[in-house]
Parts: sequence; structure tokens; C-alpha cells
Amino acid sequence: MKALVTGIAGFVGSHMAEYLLDKNVEVVGTIRNRSRMDHIIDIQHKVKLVECELRDPFSVESLIAEERPDLIFHLAAQSFVPTSWNSPVDTIHNNVAGQLNIFEAVRRLQLPARIQIACSSEEYGHVEPHETPITEDNPLRPLSPYAVSKAAQDYLGYQYYKSYGLHVIRTRTFNHTGPRRGEQFVTSNFAKQIAEIEKGLRPPVVSVGNLQAKRDFTDVRDVVNAYWLALHHAEPGEAYNIASGSCITIQELLDRLLALSTVSIEVVQDPSRMRPSDVEILLGDASRFQHQTGWKPTISFDQTLADLLQYWRER
Ligand code: GDD
Repeated sequence: MKALVTGIAGFVGSHMAEYLLDKNVEVVGTIRNRSRMDHIIDIQHKVKLVECELRDPFSVESLIAEERPDLIFHLAAQSFVPTSWNSPVDTIHNNVAGQLNIFEAVRRLQLPARIQIACSSEEYGHVEPHETPITEDNPLRPLSPYAVSKAAQDYLGYQYYKSYGLHVIRTRTFNHTGPRRGEQFVTSNFAKQIAEIEKGLRPPVVSVGNLQAKRDFTDVRDVVNAYWLALHHAEPGEAYNIASGSCITIQELLDRLLALSTVSIEVVQDPSRMRPSDVEILLGDASRFQHQTGWKPTISFDQTLADLLQYWRER
């Protein structure tokens, strides 16, 4: 069995590749010429890396024609919400055109590939208090260009299934973190600041943005297991929440990370970290996915945070 992982050098892509190698699956992964390779340094000799610009239809079609994967994990994306405020056109183009090029290549080549697409809880956006925990039937009220790009990917997944019968599974994943999480995302950002303070590399002050937001976190290692199960047991064309089913405020997250540290640290709010509109609460109901696939998260959030802080201490 052969799997294509787009964005293999990224946070989720590198964990996905390790998971697949453990299952003895042949792995092909896309990189770009500017991709950093540090996340896949240990596995790069076990996978096939192909330089492919997903925005370029010719590049994508020749890759898929050559490799003819059985499974496609489409994880490459511009995934940081604040970047989407600064570069909305680039975010939409990157995320939507990249996925369309994969769908079109699979359709034209008439490949029986099963495709998982990385949709997001951000698509739900504004959520009314009575609407939690959020099910897949909740309205999508996206609050950022990133969220709109993910809603477009999600609907295109539905449409390509309905119009052409493509085997697409739309995973709407809530927040996820763990070792290798990019340093701009909140869990890694705080953990990295704390690790640098412990090493004496910065004054004992952590800069933060909005601490009132609530998020539902799952460990990335549980998320890649969910993506595997999605392509083996989920219904094509369907959307599924991937979530832990509980949420915490970003304040609580910060307090839990600070409690793992031995040094005394001050917290200051940095206005540049505030967003034009922030999603207030994301709390997911993953029961549809759990019933369909038997998935459940296995790594506690305390363990995830300890592993993440350790990751930054070792860098
Ligand atoms: N990044 C960041 N940095 N976020 C902060 C900070 C800070 O210093 N302080 C507070 N926050 C708040 C943000 O305002 C947001 O409410 C929350 O922490 C989480 O921010 P991020 O880690 O940047 O993630 P996100 O929730 O915007 O989006 C993530 O989850 C989505 C799924 O819900 C990303 O991983 C997306 O790619 C993913 O789709």
C-alpha cells in the first residue's frame, strides 16, 4: 500500500509519515524548495520526498500519475490564522487551489485513491453558547480568511464526492499540538518562551494575546491515528469532527505550562497578538467519528504539554 502525504515536512505531516512507516506503508511526501527538513531528518531515508508546488496543476498531476497512491493525506496548508489576515489572497489560493489540483488529478486519472482532507474546527467560527459541544450539523460561520479557505476545502470535498464519486473524507480537526508544533501557535509559543526563560535567554516575562478564548486540544499523535482510521472506516463524502470533547481557556493552558516550570514568570499582554476577531469557544463533539471508526484519544493533555515543553527545552 502506498500513501501520499502532502506537507510531509510539516508538523502533522511528519507525525503522519512516522505513523505510516510503523504500519509498513510505503510513503511518498511532498516538499517545497523552501521547506525546513528538521522534522523529518530521522525518516528522510525511509520515505520518498518529491518537490511539488501544489498550486501548480501540472506539478501535481505528474506526481500523482507517477506515484498512483492508494491513500492521500492532504495536510499541506497555510495553517496559521493570523497570517491569513495579512495574506488573505495567498491563504485562499494556497489552500483551495492546492486541494483542487489534487482532486482534479485523481479525477482525470480515474484513480481509486482514498483522500483525507484536513478541514478545521475554525470553520464553525462564531458559535452560540447553546451550540456546544459542536456537532457536524452546526452552521459554519467562519471568522477569518483561513477559516473561509477551510470551509471551501470542506465543501469541495463534498462536491467532488457527489459530482464524481471521489472517496473524500472531510476531517474537521479541533486544535492539536505536541512535539514539533510550529512556534507561532499558542501552545508552542508559550512553551518556547518558558524554555528560553529557563535557559536565561530572555527576561522572565511571557508575552500573550487573548487568554479568554476556549479551545479543545488533542495530541497530534492521536490525530494522525484518526486520519488513518478515517481512510479505513469512515463514510466517503462525510464530515467528521476530531476532538477531545473538553475545552480549556488559553489562561488555563498558560497556567498549566507555567506550573511545569521551576522559574517564576510574569505575564504581559502584547496588543499585537490580539486578532481582529477571535473564535471565542471551540468545543467539539466527536461522537459521529468515534462511533464510525472506534477512535478515541489516548494521550492526556498534561502529557502532551510536558512533552511539548521538553521538546523546546532540548532545542
Ligand atoms: N498564536 C497565539 N499566540 N495565540 C494566542 C496567543 C499567542 O501569543 N495568546 C493567546 N492566543 C489565543 C488565540 O487568540 C486563539 O484564541 C488561541 O490562543 C489559539 O491560537 P492558535 O494556537 O494560533 O490556534 P487557532 O485556534 O487560531 O488555530 C489552530 O487550530 C485550528 C483548529 O481549530 C490552528 O492549528 C489551525 O490551523 C487549526 O485549523
